[in-house]
Amino acid sequence: MEQGCTRILLVEDNPGDARLLQAFLAEVGASRFELTHVETLGDGLKRLVEQQFDVILLDLSLPDSHGLDTVARMHQAASDKPIVVLTGLNDEVVALEAVRKGAQDYLVKGQIDSTLLLRAMRYAIERKRINIELEKLNELKNQLLGMAAHDLRNPLAVVKTCSDFLLEPVGQNLPAEKKTDFMRRIKRNADFMLKLIDDLLDVSRIESGKLVLDLKPVDITALIKRNIEMNGMLARGKEIELSFRHNGPVPRVQADGARLEQVLNNLISNAIKFSESGTSIDVGVRTENSNLVISVRDQGQGIPADELDKLFKPFARTSVRSTAGERSTGLGLAISRKIVQAHQGRIWAESGVSKGSTFHFAIPVACGPDPRGNCTGRD
Ligand SMILES: Nc1ncnc2c1ncn2[C@@H]1O[C@H](COP(=O)(O)OP(=O)(O)OP(=O)(O)O)[C@@H](O)[C@H]1O
Ligand SMILES: [Mg+2]
Repeated sequence: MEQGCTRILLVEDNPGDARLLQAFLAEVGASRFELTHVETLGDGLKRLVEQQFDVILLDLSLPDSHGLDTVARMHQAASDKPIVVLTGLNDEVVALEAVRKGAQDYLVKGQIDSTLLLRAMRYAIERKRINIELEKLNELKNQLLGMAAHDLRNPLAVVKTCSDFLLEPVGQNLPAEKKTDFMRRIKRNADFMLKLIDDLLDVSRIESGKLVLDLKPVDITALIKRNIEMNGMLARGKEIELSFRHNGPVPRVQADGARLEQVLNNLISNAIKFSESGTSIDVGVRTENSNLVISVRDQGQGIPADELDKLFKPFARTSVRSTAGERSTGLGLAISRKIVQAHQGRIWAESGVSKGSTFHFAIPVACGPDPRGNCTGRD
């Protein structure tokens, strides 16, 4: 509302009241507002379809609608728009009820001045914006909870069935190696649940804006080498060749190394998870404009074109299945995208069925390479 002009829809049938409000707006600075005045609710609803508004000033007693019904109908037609109700001196109870029914604020006619009018509109716009944000977060939370509950149910059932069985006489009398098999199954499923819960906590931390980056100069080459070593055993187990190529020195970036490692680990482990044995995975790094671009290319199954836009959304698994029964929670790429975005960067995928996939992420370079290994840019 500070920048640009505020587009107001005024629905008021009393010419005197309408003139007074216009005078108040002119007092604050007419050029800061674009006012559209209509006298009936029907005309107001029509204008909403044709024009964009930032705030609605709504009289409750109109020729074609009266009282709370006016707010209900306006709110239904413009649930994303802030409404400030205009009431008479004796209507404050109705005004409060109007706020409960979806209006953001109310002004009592006869007690309005330019400061009050401006403050009510500002407050209504801000409150509506926050409400919409909260509604979105709430929706996401419900969605995540539903999916998490669904994903936790199966492994939890395995843990329960296996442990019940081990505690029964028949289970207790099993040969040691059979018992160990059951315990391994319990551990595998417990590990999966723990990872799912850790990932969910990450998603919730990130979505609520609580992800704090610990920014330091990071040596990406060392980080990649470490990650390749870490995933080496997994790759060898599936007879997949994992290699790293880069030409010349790579500039350091101002970044949160542990978080970047999380992104890289997800990309490399995905490449291993969705590739057949006998294939290879290449990790590369290059400087492009003022960004460092890290790429993980596999010769795996590839992702159908119409599923590519699902990739970075929470729990959005595609039709591509892991090649050796590895588990997936479907949160890795959603978390990766948030981490990369927090670094002012971008992550994207190129893929096609039977062509393999390449995942790239780019983050701005903060400081140049230094032969002594020190960061030479801002840090
Ligand atoms: N390299 C790849 N090749 C083919 N499909 C992939 C690849 N990477 C990701 N996918 C698809 O995208 C989906 C989402 O990946 P994401 O990393 O978010 O989750 P995940 O690996 O299934 O689980 P996790 O949360 O353990 O990472 C995967 O389930 C898979 O369907
Ligand atoms: Mg993954």
